[in-house]
Amino acid sequence: MRGWLLLVLLVGSSSVALAADAARGGVVASVRCKQCHHLDSHARSIGPGLLGLYGRAPTITGVPFDIWDAVSLDLWLTDPRAVKPNTRMAIPPINARDRADIIAWFEQQRSR
Ligand code: HEC
Repeated sequence: MRGWLLLVLLVGSSSVALAADAARGGVVASVRCKQCHHLDSHARSIGPGLLGLYGRAPTITGVPFDIWDAVSLDLWLTDPRAVKPNTRMAIPPINARDRADIIAWFEQQRSR
């Protein structure tokens, strides 16, 4: 019985430790996205400005999404070419933790 309780506690705490970290995501986004996107403006750079990204419709054509949210952004950032074969957004893979943190940061920016 006590063994089960311990297991439940351990599983519970590890999921807290894995929760997305928006502050870290902002740092990762600066490193991984800023070379091609303004993060604080709607102005186009190599790609569209990403200010207000979370919760708005895509400005690019050819993606099967109505809205940029946690699901569509995770698909896009996992492999843009899998979503839109001829896209010009070519990036090295972003691991799951970095994607989750980047998306949490965009979601946090939504209210600003
Ligand atoms: C090498 C340049 C490059 C990098 C790095 C890059 N992108 Fe892009 N991104 C683009 C281009 C170019 C487009 C337009 C793609 C198209 O029209 O198919 C785009 C489009 C997008 C869009 C669609 C925007 C809209 O208004 O619909 C999102 C979202 C996006 N990028 C997010 C990101 C994020 C987040 C990062 C960092 C993790 C990132 N990109 C890194 C070049 C880049």
